[in-house]
Amino acid sequence: MKALKNLNKRFPCKCKIVSLDLLSIFLKYKDKKNDIFPLLSDIKNKFGCITEEDLVCITEHLDIPENKIRKIIELHNEFEIVPVKQHVIRVCGGMVCQLCGSDKILETACDELEIIPGSTTEDSKFKLEVVECVGLCEISPIIAIDNTFYGKIDESDAQALIAHEKQKVNQNP
Ligand code: FES
Repeated sequence: MKALKNLNKRFPCKCKIVSLDLLSIFLKYKDKKNDIFPLLSDIKNKFGCITEEDLVCITEHLDIPENKIRKIIELHNEFEIVPVKQHVIRVCGGMVCQLCGSDKILETACDELEIIPGSTTEDSKFKLEVVECVGLCEISPIIAIDNTFYGKIDESDAQALIAHEKQKVNQNP
């Protein structure tokens, strides 16, 4: 099992919740404040979701009123705001991952989280998604926890990763 990349380098800034990746997106849009749709698309593509925290960051760093951003989100089905500190676990359901046993990985994730794909745990802390090929077929099957991707995993790896994540989240709610 390999942790491929950790894109979620969150670190405290003035608003204490922004990440380097989010800052690079903000730089791109600092003179294009009316491009809210592409801005939200970039955030969703980078992080897999848009959180309440992200809204606070956008408002603080780009000076775009929060209600304006919420309106765009309401108008477009591809966007939804997930609660603060929700973690998204994604299992790749692409063809190559399926051939490498992603169904079993998904089953393990469902068991460990006690939910079905597309739903959220009762405490709202985790969401489980099946996604299309994430472009890492050479190390299939793939699971991602937030923006960290793990390749060549088996069921016990998946179980251990999710159990570890749950423990971490429960220790630092
Ligand atoms: S099919 Fe899963 S990474 Fe390509």
